[in-house]
Amino acid sequence: MLQQNKRIQSARYVNKFKSMFACPICHSPLKVMESKSLICINHHTFDFTKQGYINFTNRPVNTKYNKELFEARRNLIVDGFFKPLSREIARIINAHSGNTISILDTGCGEGSHLYNICGIIDKDVVGVGIDISKEGIRSASKSYNDKIWAVADLANTPFQDETFDVILNILSPSNYTEFNRLLKTNGAVIKIVPQSGYLKELRERIFENRPYSNVDTIKKFHENFQFVESKRLTYTKRLEKSSINWLVQMTPMTWSKKEKVSQLINEESAQITIDLDILIGKNNI
Ligand SMILES: C[S@@+](CC[C@H](N)C(=O)[O-])C[C@H]1O[C@@H](n2cnc3c(N)ncnc32)[C@H](O)[C@@H]1O
Ligand SMILES: [Zn+2]
Repeated sequence: MLQQNKRIQSARYVNKFKSMFACPICHSPLKVMESKSLICINHHTFDFTKQGYINFTNRPVNTKYNKELFEARRNLIVDGFFKPLSREIARIINAHSGNTISILDTGCGEGSHLYNICGIIDKDVVGVGIDISKEGIRSASKSYNDKIWAVADLANTPFQDETFDVILNILSPSNYTEFNRLLKTNGAVIKIVPQSGYLKELRERIFENRPYSNVDTIKKFHENFQFVESKRLTYTKRLEKSSINWLVQMTPMTWSKKEKVSQLINEESAQITIDLDILIGKNNI
């Protein structure tokens, strides 16, 4: 698709869902202007880029998540590293009532989780992905059509109150006040957090068996939702050499500690553990 077309197509698509949006500065409604921007009554203006995403931040934000990290995450996800997780999340969403569902992925990175999950949900789905990293959203928008991609802070999102049926939050920071504002009455937040065995083959080498606990994260989740269900998902994947390199590249924890994982990098293949808690929070059931 030509890049200019991509901007126009994206603006047309967003226009269908314009009632979802609110200005992140003054909170008034936003409308699409000339297939170029979203604009509010106070003239705060947010442009569609040529790749089709919308930028809601007014200054660049430096994060430790760079292009190489997102490429590595993309390669591993496409390779099926998180496939059991996508399936489990889709199963939870399929059980949600209604034939049409709106999903916001907060801290969506390069977008593959949202794209994969939407692809296996058997409902009409509107998928929106936001991330503070321009690199992540640019990559998502270049690769995946029929989704809304935006550079935005998950603590101050550009959406109206009670807009989403499901909020996804996969291995990313949270802001529960904002998530509760955005959820529809019967909506659910699905948060994915590492459990003690997550990537233990890396962690053991880097942190030398310092135990990892997600207790504080889970406690905070419980404090913010009246009803919480949780499920632990544990499995292993055998990775070949190239995938081991992606694994090492996909998390900042290894970057300054390459020597500690050099033995792993030189293996022809390795068995890697994925151990996650899936937390589902609701305020109404
Ligand atoms: C470990 S990555 C996970 C990305 C993606 N969910 C995945 O699993 O591949 C954490 C993500 O949270 C994003 N992030 C951090 N702070 C954020 C904020 N305030 N608003 C939106 N995204 C944020 C980062 O840019 C990064 O993409
Ligand atoms: Zn405004």
